[in-house]
Amino acid sequence: MTDLLETTLCGIPLRNPVLAASGTFGYGLEFAKLVDLNQLGGIITKGLSREPIAGNPAPRLWHTEGGMINSVGLQNVGVSAFIRDKLPKLRTYTVPVIANVFGYAIEDYLAVIEQLENAEGIAAYELNVSCPNTKEGGIFFSSDPALLADLVGRVRLLAKRPLIVKLSPNVARIAPFARTAEEAGADAISLINTFVSLAIDVQTRSSRIGAVRRSNRDADGCLLAGGVGASASADGFRLRVVRRSSVLFVALQSALLLRERMDARRMGAAILVFIGIVLIWLA
Ligand SMILES: Cc1cc2nc3c(=O)[nH]c(=O)nc-3n(C[C@H](O)[C@H](O)[C@H](O)COP(=O)(O)O)c2cc1C
Repeated sequence: MTDLLETTLCGIPLRNPVLAASGTFGYGLEFAKLVDLNQLGGIITKGLSREPIAGNPAPRLWHTEGGMINSVGLQNVGVSAFIRDKLPKLRTYTVPVIANVFGYAIEDYLAVIEQLENAEGIAAYELNVSCPNTKEGGIFFSSDPALLADLVGRVRLLAKRPLIVKLSPNVARIAPFARTAEEAGADAISLINTFVSLAIDVQTRSSRIGAVRRSNRDADGCLLAGGVGASASADGFRLRVVRRSSVLFVALQSALLLRERMDARRMGAAILVFIGIVLIWLA
């Protein structure tokens, strides 16, 4: 039975085709008491960056009917601490470990790969390219073919281990990006990273995701979601004030017009109705 499930990935023998996806399984070690790590086909580590990253403010998760929205913010210990603290323990298992790597400039990716190249116990690299190139305008590596080719090509020159490029679904057509990655030297394509999404609390009109609340306040952070969540911000508040003032204005205008044609009793009833509408709207 085991033999039937055995397979290979970029020449790496796998016990079976089940790989723990990056970020869903920590560094693997956290789950060692729950599952036998050696029974897995492979572990893809949490994304590793040049420096440690604290991640996004809470809430980071939101359960929906169609899945789970996550906004962890690529929290990780950084590549040096990974090599020093996690990798020696991971080496005590026989399961292949694939290091997931990301950065905000090509130099960041290269710096991480350079350190990992000198470390034992890594079977391959998975490049998370769903990151903005903040040094050059903030365009995502995953959404610009020339940028993607440049990144993959330069990592390819450095990396001696197999290179897997993990693509983003947030593009009009993914196939040209797969072809670009292959031509630039990728050994395999990993499909797919997460879809851009947002959950909004309709009562408070604010985002249920902490990073979006912060990005609206500070005008930094998650660029895509920040636009969608504008109702949680000062702009949203201004919009509400303008809308409610308009209702109040129309109500008063109508009351003044009606005063000319109505007797006192009807006039009183009309004003009460208008005040009711305004109070409901303001609630
Ligand atoms: C909590 C969480 C953290 C994730 N962190 C990473 C990460 O650090 N690097 C990465 O490349 N993908 C990360 N991902 C994306 C997953 O590896 C996977 O590509 C994504 O969830 C799509 O697969 P699915 O549709 O089976 O969930 C993360 C996903 C989740 C849910």
